[in-house]
Amino acid sequence: MADFKKVGIVGIGGLMGHGVAQVTAAAGYQVLGIESQQSALDAGVRRIDDSLSKVVARNVKKGKYDEAAAAAEKAEIMGRISTSLDIKDASSCDLVIEAIPENMDLKLDFYKNLGNIVASNPECVFASNTSSLQITQMAEISGRPEKFVGLHFFNPVQLMKLVEVIRTDHTNDETFDRMITFGKNIGKATVSAKDTPGFIVNRLLVPYLTQAMAMVDRDEASIEDIDVSMQLGAGHPMGPIHLSDYIGLDTCHSIIVGWQKDFPDEAAFIMPECLDAKVKAGDFGRKTGKGFYHWDGEKKGERA
Ligand code: 3HC
Repeated sequence: MADFKKVGIVGIGGLMGHGVAQVTAAAGYQVLGIESQQSALDAGVRRIDDSLSKVVARNVKKGKYDEAAAAAEKAEIMGRISTSLDIKDASSCDLVIEAIPENMDLKLDFYKNLGNIVASNPECVFASNTSSLQITQMAEISGRPEKFVGLHFFNPVQLMKLVEVIRTDHTNDETFDRMITFGKNIGKATVSAKDTPGFIVNRLLVPYLTQAMAMVDRDEASIEDIDVSMQLGAGHPMGPIHLSDYIGLDTCHSIIVGWQKDFPDEAAFIMPECLDAKVKAGDFGRKTGKGFYHWDGEKKGERA
């Protein structure tokens, strides 16, 4: 079973895309990071640089190597990442991982175009990092449904150990097996998921987060008390309101909007009023500096 040589990451500027590019390059793959705007490309490279600095600094602290070896390792990983503003360059890759915004119309346009661009390279595998949209629809429009999977990473990609590999009825065994191997090669634990709403993790996690926000709507507890309760009472690394801000309230919101449209009878898919209000006000959490809490970069502050 052939391994991939060059991996294209579309949306390298985003929270997920930069992390996927980083762990892929760190595992030894050549990476081509693609964006449509120079500013997004620059943001992605800057994020990878910042994160790699933290990773190698931690290794120095642990005594794994000295400062010089840390700088060399960082330079080697950065050296495996090239960038492009032209999606046509994806045709030089044998795996393309897409991490563009969570909007089905946007994704369908993207995959129709990508399928045409990469038509001369029929072996190239496509993988979508969508958190909740249906993989089958994207696979069908791409022109290569048998070589199409979902590859769902978790935030922050550099630290979270899981990747869900989602197969549709069209995905062939070879593609699925190659992607499981790829997941392991980049240091992740892999699980096999079906093309159901939210796959495994988000089907459980997102209703939990929105239930916490519904408690806020009903004024049953403060956001701080909800967070502390789940941290100290249930052993979660972050409470649900904190985690929602960390993931991005816009992301949580768009997942619910999509699910309510496609599954209007599913009682678990609720839109809390406070989430809707925050997103309408442009307060997306960590990424905008304000959500349920104030944020100073990666650091959570007081409630907003
Ligand atoms: N890159 C590299 N290193 C990083 C980093 C990054 N992006 N972020 C944090 N670190 C490092 C820190 O520098 C720190 O290093 P040090 O120990 O040398 O100081 C170390 O990681 C630990 O970080 P923190 O001290 O800031 O905080 P924590 O110990 O709380 O760990 C966490 C942070 C791993 C994010 C933890 O809080 C956690 O697991 N939170 C839950 C995250 C989660 O549930 N993610 C999934 C969200 S769902 C999702 O993504 C799906 C999507 O589709 C919605």
